Amino acid sequence: MSLWDRINSRLTFQSGIGFMYRQLFMHPPPIAAEVTLEGQTAIITGSNTGLGFEAGRQLLQLDLSRLILAVRSQTKGDVAAEALRKEFLRAEIEVWILDMEDPESVAAFARRCQTLGRIDIVVLNAGVQNKDYAVSPKTGNEQTFQVNYLSTIMLAVLLLPILRAKSGSAGRPARLTIVTSTTAYFAHFDNQRPILPQFDEKYDVTKCYPVLMYSKRGDDLEKKILSETRQMLESMNVSHTQMHGF
Ligand SMILES: NC(=O)c1ccc[n+]([C@@H]2O[C@H](COP(=O)([O-])OP(=O)(O)OC[C@H]3O[C@@H](n4cnc5c(N)ncnc54)[C@H](OP(=O)(O)O)[C@@H]3O)[C@@H](O)[C@H]2O)c1
Repeated sequence: MSLWDRINSRLTFQSGIGFMYRQLFMHPPPIAAEVTLEGQTAIITGSNTGLGFEAGRQLLQLDLSRLILAVRSQTKGDVAAEALRKEFLRAEIEVWILDMEDPESVAAFARRCQTLGRIDIVVLNAGVQNKDYAVSPKTGNEQTFQVNYLSTIMLAVLLLPILRAKSGSAGRPARLTIVTSTTAYFAHFDNQRPILPQFDEKYDVTKCYPVLMYSKRGDDLEKKILSETRQMLESMNVSHTQMHGF
């Protein structure tokens, strides 16, 4: 990474000015007029509201044929599905239950995905942003860490082989997208200790130094996090075979 890239990264992503710059001047490229998702199936987690709901709506605007709203509340999912059905009369819109605080629910959801004839798009979007410290009762992990990281990685790992298998029928690779946040830049941890358990500790929000991730130390840190994640996934009954390639 050049000096300019480092300065640019700092200014664009780690400062108040950067936030304003991104809001005002960074836009996704326009979608080509000929793009159609007709015949395709998409799954979006946390899609009863917010960005997930809007993502679903925008895929349906591109003629998506089947949308699976992966949500933790049947009632909220039904309300969202009904609103979308009114707007997109031809699409098949389903509500499937997924509780990202419960590894068993994540595993059951992935198993259910195996029953789909094809999967073209997956958006792992479900997330929480808590002001106060909260623990997920089923795992004992800090809730944001459980939902935004651990269950998201678990679901991605479980879905990848399914997506590979299903892409044959679709004729092209499926796409899996994970929604993240620049709040990751504010993480603070002691890299002399195991990293993941630190996410269960009460917050001490201090500005960190993410350009670290472009250095040798960053490489080592990434390996350490992956290795600890594999161990945690094992404890959540994700097998070595399922983690192949992760
Ligand atoms: N909005 C932003 O400015 C922003 C910025 C950066 C990143 N993000 C990321 O974008 C994603 C969506 O954000 P948003 O602003 O649209 O948030 P939101 O309106 O609060 O929606 C979050 C969604 O995640 C679901 N969810 C939360 N916990 C869950 C669980 N245990 N199991 C299943 N679903 C769960 C929520 O379901 P319930 O309705 O049942 O609670 C809701 O559908 C998040 O991952 C967030 O971190 C957002």
